[in-house]
Amino acid sequence: MDFLKQISLKWKYFTGTLFYLSYSPNAYFYSRKRDRLEREFPPPQTREAFDNPGKLLRAEPNARGANFYFEQAELEISFLTPDLVRVDWKPGIPPVPYGIARHDWQEVETKLEEADDSTAVSSDTLKVIVSIDGSLKFCHSSGQIFREELPPKRKGGGWIHQAQLRKEEHIYGLGERAFALNLRAARETTEKGELTEQPKTFQMWNYDAAGMYGVGSDPMYICIPVYVGMHQQGSYLIFYENSFEASFTFDDVATADFEGGELRYYVTSGTPAQLVERYTELTGRAPLPPRWALGYHQSHWGYRTEEAVREEAKGFAAHNLPLSAIHLDIDVQVGFRAFTIDPDRFPKLASFTQELLEQGVRFIAIMNPGIKYSRHSNLFLEGQILDAFCRQPDGKLMVAPVWPGWCVFPDFTNPTVRKWWSRQYEYLLDVGVAGFWHDMNEPAAFILWGDRSLPKPTQHFMEGRGGDHREAHNVYGLLQAKAGYESLCGHRPDQRPFIVSRAGWAGLQRYAWTWTGDIECTWAAMRLTVSTVVGLGLSGIPYSGPDIGGFQGNPSAELYLRWFQMANFLTFCRTHSSNNVAHRAPWTYGEPYLSIIRQFLQLRYKLLPYFYTLAWEATQKGYPPVRPLFWSNPDDSKLWGVDDAFLLGDALLICPIFEEGARSRQVTLPKGHWYNFWDDRLLEGSQQVNLEAPLEQIPLLVSAGSILPMEEDNQLILHLYPPVQGSSEACVYSDAGDGYGESRLDKFRMVRFDDGLELMWQQEGEYAFPYKTIHLHLHGIKLQQTWMDGKEVAFEGKYLECAKFGQAYFKGEFVAPELL
Ligand code: GLC
Repeated sequence: MDFLKQISLKWKYFTGTLFYLSYSPNAYFYSRKRDRLEREFPPPQTREAFDNPGKLLRAEPNARGANFYFEQAELEISFLTPDLVRVDWKPGIPPVPYGIARHDWQEVETKLEEADDSTAVSSDTLKVIVSIDGSLKFCHSSGQIFREELPPKRKGGGWIHQAQLRKEEHIYGLGERAFALNLRAARETTEKGELTEQPKTFQMWNYDAAGMYGVGSDPMYICIPVYVGMHQQGSYLIFYENSFEASFTFDDVATADFEGGELRYYVTSGTPAQLVERYTELTGRAPLPPRWALGYHQSHWGYRTEEAVREEAKGFAAHNLPLSAIHLDIDVQVGFRAFTIDPDRFPKLASFTQELLEQGVRFIAIMNPGIKYSRHSNLFLEGQILDAFCRQPDGKLMVAPVWPGWCVFPDFTNPTVRKWWSRQYEYLLDVGVAGFWHDMNEPAAFILWGDRSLPKPTQHFMEGRGGDHREAHNVYGLLQAKAGYESLCGHRPDQRPFIVSRAGWAGLQRYAWTWTGDIECTWAAMRLTVSTVVGLGLSGIPYSGPDIGGFQGNPSAELYLRWFQMANFLTFCRTHSSNNVAHRAPWTYGEPYLSIIRQFLQLRYKLLPYFYTLAWEATQKGYPPVRPLFWSNPDDSKLWGVDDAFLLGDALLICPIFEEGARSRQVTLPKGHWYNFWDDRLLEGSQQVNLEAPLEQIPLLVSAGSILPMEEDNQLILHLYPPVQGSSEACVYSDAGDGYGESRLDKFRMVRFDDGLELMWQQEGEYAFPYKTIHLHLHGIKLQQTWMDGKEVAFEGKYLECAKFGQAYFKGEFVAPELL
């Protein structure tokens, strides 16, 4: 049997490789064409290149700050809020504001003060000091400087912008990256993969990390010119509103080198939470997803027929595993063409999606932007009439090979094209497709060498002002997501959209989730996921997750299990794998793996009220549910470099296992106190501890003071983890789980006294309480007596069944923290 399995796997691998190879001739011709076009149409050069802006000639106040006139450049400083500054160095092509969600900022009072060799413009929170040579200092109102910039340089059509970095400064963000969380720690590697002393240069050019990527791959699918700097004087965030190709390096200075556009950027300072809150006020917040999307998703490049999908769903039911969605890949399409699903293999799609839905499973379809370049394709003909496709500078259609063969590419920078594209989703929505995953939307093209996208001189509409791919490339996936999102909102207004997009830019969170692409199937790659997902969250994108088990390759049973245990606590939890590897699902490896995965998945579904409340918080504040350990303790520099663990909200600390055979691991605890989730032991924070990790567990800690909401069988289960002193608060957000109806917020406050714990409950909102019963589960206290709204009630051990109440008191003895 095993032998047969091996043979079939080898055959799958062989045919999969042949499949890739069959694209080689097209890829060859395309690579040549791309090179020729890039040679014939080089980027425009500017005449006004300079090494510095020259001397400051004068400064004038404006409505939100001031304008500064230098010999060779102009600088406009505008306070959008007292702690958010927009800086504009001109000349250059001003950006089309694709990344920006908010334009209606309230007035801010500012002041301009001139001194001998500098001029300062300030709000009551921040001050920007502009020196006579064009260098800038950003300070808090206390006078504390948190960022020092050198005078910018103008080159070609672009800009080079530099800022001093402090010795201890850590840098995070830049969208999706395959490095340590602290990007400053990233080093270049030699061709043999050995580390050098050279700091890594990060590219800003959305890139199809085709086939598979691993530690050190750069760039990746979502490049965003935003980063957070943390040093002893606090933290700040800078976002460059410039979508041109760029590179970033973090050495003694941070260098941002843009190939074009204006040098427009935004600076804010504050705690990491405040930074993300401001940044997402500027670039938008993720809307509330449908609640089911926070469950588990199953995917494989290889479900070809309705029967195969049905079998997969049955497998979940048979193994008693919860499942929220199945993702269908290109092999369900007709010739891999966008907006098709093969009617021979899915003959009655509407009744099939309904059948799945009755089992609680949603049907998610893939969508690639490339349209088959063929007169037999209606989409191509329609798009042609509309002039919807990107063109070469000589006016010819830009044609490049992707899955369907030679393809043309909708120009999503044109609103008419977006509207046309939006309409295409409608019939799939009508037959019950619940959501879409947008793939290959960097956009990707098949090549034999060079860049895997459209030639840089490819023309774009850019909302009417015109531009080329150098500027449009990085926003291409963002704008496809916008078109998709608007379609789902418009055509199915009672349901919340669900789109997962591989590529994107600043603001993607307004329209879509993402997954971290074709990651290799290794322990190191799995560990990388933590940095990538946390980095995305700090870049404004709260919903992401990896292909569990890796895309290419067959993970060992233990790797798959450990990967699952980690991804179980990420916002997007999906197994996915390539077409040339073995089918992979939670039962693939038999026991004991299956039972352990079941327990984890069941825990995830129990935790849905917690996940959902975090999702609601993300709509209010932009906070990513998955956070770095320093999130609430930015002053503790020992946490700045930790990227082998992450927080889920404020309550949970998750420490995955990244090594075959490991049965324990070192854990860095942030300050405070932490309960071990598995045995309730109370640990003191601000230390390193070694925690057990048998196959069935990964170290999981709950912050003292947490109220962790769970649900099961129509019951709300509140896990109370008493604070070590004082009080703590938490809330639970509920609504119908989809649509835009009423909602409610159950707010809890827990106060610790010498002899017990008080819990107060306040309710807000019109949505009816969705649970039949309430179950309180007390941790870290030996209960002696309990009162609810003044009346004594009975309890069983540490559990209590009750109805809604206003105030409860739990008399008992607290467990003392253990010294490890
Ligand atoms: C890309 C995607 C991958 C998908 C494959 C086939 O490689 O990243 O997830 O399975 O294309 O569509």
